[in-house]
Amino acid sequence: MLLQSTTNPLIDLSRKTNGTQDRAEFAKHVADGLSQHPKKLSSRYFYDAKGSKLFQQIMDLPEYYLTRAEYSLMQRHRSAMVRAFAAGGFFHLVDLGAGDALKTKLLLQELERQQKPFDYVPMDISGSAMQELSKDLQQAHPDLHVQAVVAEYITGLQWLEQHLTERKVVLFLGSNIGNFEREEGLEFISQIRRHLQPGDLFLLGVDLTKDPDIILAAYNDASGVTAAFNLNLLERINRELGGNFDLDDFKHFALYDPQLGVMKSFLVSQCEQEVYLEANQARYSFAAWEAIHTESSHKYTLPQATEMGRSAGFELVTSYLDEKGGFADMLFKAI
Ligand code: TRP
Repeated sequence: MLLQSTTNPLIDLSRKTNGTQDRAEFAKHVADGLSQHPKKLSSRYFYDAKGSKLFQQIMDLPEYYLTRAEYSLMQRHRSAMVRAFAAGGFFHLVDLGAGDALKTKLLLQELERQQKPFDYVPMDISGSAMQELSKDLQQAHPDLHVQAVVAEYITGLQWLEQHLTERKVVLFLGSNIGNFEREEGLEFISQIRRHLQPGDLFLLGVDLTKDPDIILAAYNDASGVTAAFNLNLLERINRELGGNFDLDDFKHFALYDPQLGVMKSFLVSQCEQEVYLEANQARYSFAAWEAIHTESSHKYTLPQATEMGRSAGFELVTSYLDEKGGFADMLFKAI
């Protein structure tokens, strides 16, 4: 389905049909997650309007090094990246989870500066983000051909299938891979590989293992923005599903396991309580100090991430690091 727009039309592959269905799906996810032991809520629901604003604030926090590290490594290495991308001639630059494409814009500028032939295919679940990005790029890069796709990751890969024989460079930045459990991350990269041809390139953003105190602080900032971001999930359930979570009865808790390399975020019930959800006409009970798992952020060593790529059918071309060596954009080639 094509959406009308003043710029390039968006390709909309999102299954979203109407708000009622969205709400029903959200309600079902919450019911499933809160009925399990241990309890969990899906991190895909963090990013409503308020959550997206809070995440912008997280990215500006002194403790949240991830975004700045990847931005600065791109500034540092973009010239080499662009030479590697364009060595085989024209290509589609496919950006999975593009958002506002803040980091990718560094590459777009450099690609134009080096006059490389390519087009840009940003993909994101947010239709409004893709509308804005298309508009914005038409102003800043009037000669650039942009084809934005609105889709979840897996659905977006359909686009790759339709352009199977054309050269592609796929970006998966921002350490989004870290939000998959390890086996799921490997499965996801394998799926990407299945939509590529030998020789196609894949650039993977990876937050590397480092001093555990630095990692923990990034997810447990002193000013409490991350706590507010995590708690907004309950607020959203109250707003959209008629829940009666009392936010004062829950607290944000974060821990880092340096052996497994995983950062975990929780919402902990500070007392024994029941919460009612209108949408499900059901009650969910919490024991005192029972926790809901809301997100995992996996950190990798360079060898671990190299091995994950290899298992998925890629060989490592090179790893671009930030100056502190804490974040990597790893360039893989499909074999
Ligand atoms: N997914 C991002 C990450 O892992 C976003 C994030 C930052 C986050 N802080 C958080 C998710 C706290 C849940 C809780 O870095």
